[in-house]
Amino acid sequence: MKSGPQTGRSRQEVIQNELMWHEEEAHRRMPIDEFLYAPPAFEPVIDGGIAFLEAKPEKWLLEVGCGEGKESVKFREQGLKAVSIDLSHVQLQRAQELMQEKFGDGAMFFVQANAEELPFARDSFQAIYAKAVLHHLDMDIAYEEFERTLMEDGRISITEPLAHHPIIQFGRFATPQLRTRDERPIPFDEFEQFAARFSQSEVNTFFLLAPLAYIFRVSPKGERLFRKTHTFLQRVDARLFRTFPFLRRFAWYSIIKANI
Ligand SMILES: C[S@@+](CC[C@H](N)C(=O)[O-])C[C@H]1O[C@@H](n2cnc3c(N)ncnc32)[C@H](O)[C@@H]1O
Repeated sequence: MKSGPQTGRSRQEVIQNELMWHEEEAHRRMPIDEFLYAPPAFEPVIDGGIAFLEAKPEKWLLEVGCGEGKESVKFREQGLKAVSIDLSHVQLQRAQELMQEKFGDGAMFFVQANAEELPFARDSFQAIYAKAVLHHLDMDIAYEEFERTLMEDGRISITEPLAHHPIIQFGRFATPQLRTRDERPIPFDEFEQFAARFSQSEVNTFFLLAPLAYIFRVSPKGERLFRKTHTFLQRVDARLFRTFPFLRRFAWYSIIKANI
């Protein structure tokens, strides 16, 4: 189960390319990321993923691919002992700046590391949090690293964009410059198969009609209407996913909540 097109390139080349893109190009995504992910649009997904971990303040939590640190901030707010890793030093720098802005210091464990070769011993973590990073990784290697570093009874939440939401697919098609060469949103079936590797797992889907609400976010005055419509459509989506499970494959995002 490999993520990324099978180009015949070695993982080392892919990782090097990912590193360079995230150091040099990722800033181009910032306006669109702000538009799509600014709170409270993703809070139900993010907060659900964090709450599931039942992270204990005295044990270590690993955040994989922390990017600009939006969730690293939440871990600190909750008094958790987190190590946040990312391949890109530039992303980690931004995460540290965000920490400084919010708390007046950058005190947090930020480590530049490749998620496919985690620099931690077996059973290091009670919880692992990974959001929007698995689709950059070789899924077989990532699973082995999660399995190796998560202790027995540990919990993991993995949140990922899926491959078949029609509007999001169109957006991706129209803006290839905002993505790395090898990343690949994951088809729902593959994501479910990945979830099945864990001893216990649950897969939830989000956002089918809810993305339509973004039409109101285009104007700053539309933010209130965006929030109301987005909340309402999320409820409709939840009901649609329950009633017509085949629609789950067209969700924009999905989350695995699992135990090793
Ligand atoms: C789409 S961003 C998601 C960032 C953050 N988790 C979020 O949801 O806002 C993907 C992040 O994964 C990082 N990344 C990509 N490949 C990686 C790897 N092999 N190891 C660690 N981080 C990686 C990128 O540098 C980038 O910051």
